[in-house]
Amino acid sequence: MSISSEAVVLEQDLSSYENHWMPFTSNRAFKAAPRMFVRGEGMYLWDQNGNKILDASSGLFTCAAGHTRPEIAEAISRQASTLDYVPHFGSAHPASFEFARRVAELTPVGLDRVFFTCSGSESVDTAIKIAFAYHRARGQGQRQRLVSRERAYHGVNLGGTALSGMIKNREAFGVGLPGVVHMRHTWLAENRFTKGQPETGAELAEDLQRMVDLYGGETIAACFVEPVAGSTGVLVPPKGYLERIRDICDKRGILLVFDEVICGFGRLGAPFGAHAFGVTPDILTMAKALTNGAVPMGAVAVRDGVHDAIVDSSPNGVVEFFHGYTYSAHPLACAAGLATMDVYEKEDLFNRGAELSPYFLDAVFGLSDVPLIKDIRGFGMLAGFDVESGDVPGQRGGEVQKRLFHAGMHIKMTGDVGILAPSLIADRHHIDEMCGKLREVLGSF
Ligand SMILES: Cc1ncc(COP(=O)(O)O)c(C=O)c1O
Repeated sequence: MSISSEAVVLEQDLSSYENHWMPFTSNRAFKAAPRMFVRGEGMYLWDQNGNKILDASSGLFTCAAGHTRPEIAEAISRQASTLDYVPHFGSAHPASFEFARRVAELTPVGLDRVFFTCSGSESVDTAIKIAFAYHRARGQGQRQRLVSRERAYHGVNLGGTALSGMIKNREAFGVGLPGVVHMRHTWLAENRFTKGQPETGAELAEDLQRMVDLYGGETIAACFVEPVAGSTGVLVPPKGYLERIRDICDKRGILLVFDEVICGFGRLGAPFGAHAFGVTPDILTMAKALTNGAVPMGAVAVRDGVHDAIVDSSPNGVVEFFHGYTYSAHPLACAAGLATMDVYEKEDLFNRGAELSPYFLDAVFGLSDVPLIKDIRGFGMLAGFDVESGDVPGQRGGEVQKRLFHAGMHIKMTGDVGILAPSLIADRHHIDEMCGKLREVLGSF
């Protein structure tokens, strides 16, 4: 099918861009020179001028099965024309139970209770509230502290902002949630250009022990960790690091939360990072590839004991957990999610990603000789590279993204860090194309 002939050419005058205040965007720069996508299929997007653009970041780590999957589109359409909305406070729609069951089939053993949200940020804030409610239900309401990490990204709601370890995401927003403390991140200069898990750095997990010593383990509710810190630029955990964090949490009754909003659904060569690294959290947050990005949705998988403590501590016949969203378990999102799970299963996409990973990582690490690149990290189908900063941090990264767009490739940049996360349907030639464009564009600076 000739896509470019079908591409919608937008003819808008620039003043029509004024009303949409865009998220995480240099609005003035964008609106002066808009880069607009109007169509997507499989590994590619098309811009408003009909140019074909390879998507090297699966949208925003969302479209693990590629763009605009007909199976998912049809499921959404069917649901929208059958039953558009159901309130889930005290009533329900059958698809949510089926979808929760399908999700629980994928989550680590024992994390079988699934709470639906509408985004990754909502999943994180929901996980915070579950942690507080769990401890309170067990008579430990004094556990009010949360531990996170420098360079962490846990979304943009107030809880997640407080957990955030990315400076720009915090600085304009005041003190946020009290009682949040940050461990160091796991980037070490000595581990630059390490493929997979670094051999050194597990001792950084002792930061959690230091928090325990300083504040008292009995004051800490939960420790939040992205198995691979994604948005900050793919920081892969050193060998032994997550195991040690788990160990300290176990000894001190601290809940371990894995934020798998990026890591989940095959990104790391297994259903979740928990499987990839062999460490099981008590609570696991997800979103993005949960519905292949087609309808906004997030979820929190919870260890049975955590769920039971909250539910059983409440008298029968009343609400047990005073939390939820108007759009929790929205029928369209459940329909999209169920169709997404079918695609993952039918096409064995998690294993496909695992098989492609060595080729992908070899190709990306093959860029190590590009002078602008200062470090590369990667695991599974996720890789990050640092470009040398210019005078203003982030400006060069923005320029890299722009030049790549014009060269026919979309990439997620965070400041001066590029993040590669191709869809799990990618073939080797897509990886070659991606790395070829990167070499060409990064060499143009
Ligand atoms: C680890 C992590 N947590 C939470 C979020 C927030 O998700 P959302 O943008 O859907 O709110 C993200 C988004 O990238 C993420 O990477």
